[in-house]
Amino acid sequence: MDFESNNWVWEGMYYYPRLFGGIMLTAALLGLSTSYFGGISVPTLLYPFADRSIFHKKKHGKKRVRVYMDGCFDLMHYGHANALRQAKALGDELVVGVVSDEEIIATKGPPVLCMEERLALVSGLKWVDEVISSAPYEITEEFMNRLFNEYNIDYIIHGDDPCLLPDGTDAYALAKKAGRYKQIKRTEGVSSTDIVGRILSSSKSRNTPQDCSNSSPTGEADSINNKCGEEKQAKGGHISHFLPTSRRIVQFSNGKGPGPNSRVVYIDGAFDLFHAGHVEILRRARQLGDFLLVGIYPDQTVSELRGHQYPLMNLYERSLSVLACRYVDEVIIGSPWEVTQDMITTFNISLVVHGTVSESNSSMEGGQDPYAVPKSMGIFQVIESPKDITTTSVAQRIIANHEIYVKRNTKKAASEKKYYAERKYVSGD
Ligand SMILES: *[C@@H]1O[C@H](CO)[C@@H](O)[C@H](O)[C@H]1NC(C)=O
Ligand SMILES: *[C@@H]1O[C@H](CO)[C@@H](O)[C@H](O)[C@H]1NC(C)=O
Repeated sequence: MDFESNNWVWEGMYYYPRLFGGIMLTAALLGLSTSYFGGISVPTLLYPFADRSIFHKKKHGKKRVRVYMDGCFDLMHYGHANALRQAKALGDELVVGVVSDEEIIATKGPPVLCMEERLALVSGLKWVDEVISSAPYEITEEFMNRLFNEYNIDYIIHGDDPCLLPDGTDAYALAKKAGRYKQIKRTEGVSSTDIVGRILSSSKSRNTPQDCSNSSPTGEADSINNKCGEEKQAKGGHISHFLPTSRRIVQFSNGKGPGPNSRVVYIDGAFDLFHAGHVEILRRARQLGDFLLVGIYPDQTVSELRGHQYPLMNLYERSLSVLACRYVDEVIIGSPWEVTQDMITTFNISLVVHGTVSESNSSMEGGQDPYAVPKSMGIFQVIESPKDITTTSVAQRIIANHEIYVKRNTKKAASEKKYYAERKYVSGD
C-alpha cells in the first residue's frame, strides 16, 4: 500500500473525542487555521453513520476492538480509502494518524495538500472514526505505548509492503513482538506517485499541442484532440493500473436505497482528483435531504468540458472516491449531462443542487442548460461552493513546483515499477 509515509505520529497530537454512537466531534480541527481553505469550513460535526444502530446492536456487550493505521494521505485516492476500509474491517473502531506537514517536508519535501486538506479528506471517509493529526515520521516505542495506553488501540495495521526505518529495521517490529500487529493487502493500481505522474504528463501535453502532428484545424478539433490526448497518455506510460471489479464497487457501496418517504438530493459533476472542496460540497448537499445521489460524468464528457488532458482519474476511479465519502449514499457511474424528467422520476429526486464554483464554464456554451428541467420544476438550488480549491488548482500546485515533483517522482516511480515487476499474488481484499 502506498501511504507515501507509512510511519508514525507522536508529537502535537490532537485527539478527537467521541460523543456518542458514530458522531464525533473534530474539536481539534478548530484549533488549526482555516485560512488555507478560503471558505471551506472543516466539518466540526461529522455525519452519523447510517447503519449506526445495527452496528451497535451487533457488537453489544463486547469490548470494541480499536485499530490504528497511519499515513500522509497526500493526494488521497481510493487506494488509501480501500486500505482504511480493510483496516476498519479488522476491528470495530478505526483511528487514523495523519503525518504532519513539517514531518513530510523534512523527510520528502512539500506535500501537495496541507494538513487541513488532508484531514478533511480523511475525516470524510466513511470508515474513519477518529483522527490523530500532526505526526512525526518515525515509530518509537514511546508512541506505540501511548497508542496502546492513551488511545486504547488494540492493533496497529499496515499494508503488506515492507516498511523500513532509516537504520534498515522493520518499522513495525515492536508492534509485531507485542502481538498487536495486523496486516492488510496493498491496493493495486493507484498511488500518489502515479497521480502526480498523470498531472505532470497532462501539463506537458497541454503545453505542446503542436506535438500532435496529425491534428488539423478542422471543425472536428475536439475529437482529434481527444485522440491526441490518449496517444500522449499511452506514450507517457501514465495509464491507470486500476482494474475495476464489481466486488470493489460493492465493497465501497452502502448497499441501500432511499428509505420510504426519503428526500433524495441529486448532485452531478466530474469529481476528478477528489479533494477537500468536494467533501465539503457533498456534505452541504447531503444536509438538504435524506439520501444523496451523485452523478459522475463519463470520461468523454469531462474531456469535452475541460480539455483532452482531463480527467486525471477515470470514471471508475472517480466513482470509488465519491462512494468512499461518508455523505454519499449512491452514485450513478456515468451520468447524463442533462438532468432529465425521466431521471427525476426514476430516482424520485426532490432536489437538484449545483455548486457556485465550477470548472466547467463551457457547460452553457452553445448547448442546452443541463438543469433546465429541474429549474422549470422549481427543484433546482445553487449551493455555495467552498472557494479556492478545484481539481485545476490542485494540479496547478504540482505543476508550479514541477521540478521538485519530477525529481521526487522519477525516484519513486522507479521503485514502484520494481514493485509491480516483482510482486506476487497476495490473497486478501
Ligand atoms: C418521493 O420523494 C418524496 C419527497 O420529496 C417523498 O415524500 C415520497 O414518499 C417519495 N416517494 C416514494 C415512493 O418513496
Ligand atoms: C472559462 O472561463 C475563463 C475565464 O473566465 C475563460 O478564459 C475561458 O475561456 C472559459 N472557458 C470556456 C471553455 O468557456
